Amino acid sequence: MLKGQEYVSGEALKSELNISRTAVWKNIRGLQELGYNINTIKGKGYHLVSIPQKLYPWELNFFKTTNKYKVRYLSKVDSTNNYARSLELAQVVIAEQQTSGKGRLGREWLSEPGGVYFSLVVAPGCSIEEIPMLPLVIATAITEIMRKNFNVPAEIKWPNDILIKGKKVSGILVELSGETDAPNKTVIGVGINANQKIDHFPSELKSKITTLQEQIGQPINRLKLLDDILEKITEILDQIAEKAPEMLRKWKEFSCTLGQEVSVQQVSKTVKGIAKDIDDKGALIINTAQGYERVLTGDVTLRTFRYDTEGGKE
Ligand code: BTN
Repeated sequence: MLKGQEYVSGEALKSELNISRTAVWKNIRGLQELGYNINTIKGKGYHLVSIPQKLYPWELNFFKTTNKYKVRYLSKVDSTNNYARSLELAQVVIAEQQTSGKGRLGREWLSEPGGVYFSLVVAPGCSIEEIPMLPLVIATAITEIMRKNFNVPAEIKWPNDILIKGKKVSGILVELSGETDAPNKTVIGVGINANQKIDHFPSELKSKITTLQEQIGQPINRLKLLDDILEKITEILDQIAEKAPEMLRKWKEFSCTLGQEVSVQQVSKTVKGIAKDIDDKGALIINTAQGYERVLTGDVTLRTFRYDTEGGKE
């Protein structure tokens, strides 16, 4: 009711919501405490001036239009992936800030306020062999949304680092739980550098990361971005078998890895060669001096990159 242009009287709110005048006032106070800017004029009522820059789930269309997912909103958490691990399926965990955000390969994911951090708990929906393609599919969906919404040249470095002009803007961490050969839960964690202040990043990271705000020169609407992403990725996950081939085709279109001379750091070895393709499981096919090699995990360094930095985090 408050979202209209006009002032709404306490009386109108009272009868519409079927609560007492005191309850109306308490609710208004509650909203103000959450950061809603509400003007009050005696005799005229209440007027909503602006909503806070928070990822409040009740402001997301996604949760208004579907009841398939439960949502948990946290202003601060160690890691949304950790929190999500103990939850039932079909849940979304959203946080404004993470104190121990986790990245791929045991790295830290710095999660200051202003970013977008969420995890989705879903059933795997595909075979264990196909799980590695999930993060590629999710990265493709997010890259497409970034390109469309912000007109930025977002690209994907294998497997799922989203870069803009060589600097990392988003990362995805997929974790499984249950039996190793038959996981029953997939936690898909997404971190996006959106409106954080670049100055707040440690100096060694500043040249490797970017934010959407830095790229477009103004703060982005994080709610709209999260809404679009949740809508898109849940739609894809619902029909993963049908959607995966198309998404992997788009991954190749958005890739800044294919055709490049790469070096893939793995636990026990480094694979060097030309990145030729990805297969239907998301593995990177590299033409090495010893022939073609299929790589499923690791950290890619692009040896002939057209930007100064490589976008990955140390
Ligand atoms: C990467 O290294 O590129 C993956 C980064 C994934 C970060 C996200 S933020 C939300 C979720 N919770 C975590 O602790 N990590 C993921």
